[in-house]
Amino acid sequence: NEIFFEGLGGVVPRFPFTYEELASRAEAALGPSLWSYVAGGAGDERTQRANASAFERWGLYPRMFVGAARRDLSVELFGMTLPSPLFMAPIGVIGLCAQDGHGDLATARAAARTGVPMVASTLTVDPLEEVAAEFGSTPGFFQLYTPTDRELAESLVHRAEKAGFKAIVVTLDTWVTGWRPRDLSTANFPQLRGHCLANYTSDPVFRAALDRTPEEDPRGAAMRWAQVFGNPLTWDDLPWLRSLTELPLIVKGICHPEDVRRAKDGGVDGIYCSNHGGRQANGGLPALDALPGVVEAADGLPVLFDSGIRTGTDIVKAVALGATAVGVGRPYAYGLSLGGTDGVVHVLRSLLAEADLLMAVDGYPTLADLTPESLRRVL
Ligand code: FNR
Repeated sequence: NEIFFEGLGGVVPRFPFTYEELASRAEAALGPSLWSYVAGGAGDERTQRANASAFERWGLYPRMFVGAARRDLSVELFGMTLPSPLFMAPIGVIGLCAQDGHGDLATARAAARTGVPMVASTLTVDPLEEVAAEFGSTPGFFQLYTPTDRELAESLVHRAEKAGFKAIVVTLDTWVTGWRPRDLSTANFPQLRGHCLANYTSDPVFRAALDRTPEEDPRGAAMRWAQVFGNPLTWDDLPWLRSLTELPLIVKGICHPEDVRRAKDGGVDGIYCSNHGGRQANGGLPALDALPGVVEAADGLPVLFDSGIRTGTDIVKAVALGATAVGVGRPYAYGLSLGGTDGVVHVLRSLLAEADLLMAVDGYPTLADLTPESLRRVL
């Protein structure tokens, strides 16, 4: 309504409302190298495309005589009450998507303004303490890429705790980078160009392992990072990960029900069903198709979901299929590239407004009213 009334007053909206226009304007704003990094996926990107099109195979039944004049999109997650199920998925090096290069801080400010939590990547451009300082009263989560150096992993988690993060998300599907033709053809690894090192070069454990300081020898620091970054964890590492923190522990990248059961047995607090937005493995199953099996195996444990969310209706469908909270990735990075904090706020508010309106029109006043029976398979 706010937007329509502004339109009546002759105000032309600053940011686009369709995903396609958002993406095409972001492409122009980011330039070829960053665009291919953010927009690209693994292989010929069929899994990435399938992630989004999977939502088209579900239709929501409209229900009448419900009088859904007021909606409540709030959710309980790890003892916190969030205003909606939406959160921002971790995006490494997202800082570069903002014109001033401090996009992690701009995103954190968008979290503060909207109440939509940000999961800050290990690969932020600014140190995690500075990102956390911008969250205001919105809870933030820290995403851990587990280094091979256990002491460094412990240090990162303890810093995140100290900085006030409210949960630790351990990403399991990216200990090695997937086959990404767009990045390969632009020889474009922003991570390797040293923009992702802030959480390492600011870390006492990381610094202690270097012969010279990162300020004196940035190349040496980057080499050390490359050595410790990728840890092909096994189930044997889960008890150690669990022992690192009392904060809620969430494992990201889980799609198979058996993995859910093992993670649950290992004492995690939440399962994060995701295929990394199709960036890691091509030819896999769309994350949405994995969601029902994950939810069933999770058996009451919170399930976070991402990969392919492009509209507010997608959020509603993911919740109906059992997601407790729903993450969005690329769309907010595009918003960031167009207008910093304002651009991210625009994308988040648009997604939520569309979800809320759908729930109004189709007669689902609360998230609890959305169940798998609210949906019908249409293709
Ligand atoms: C990611 N993703 C990601 N995940 C993670 O756990 N740590 C990270 O540092 C990153 N980095 C990253 C960079 C970029 C450019 C993208 C697009 C994504 C994956 C992310 O958290 C999420 O799983 C997907 O982005 C969700 O899919 P959509 O919404 O982009 O389709």
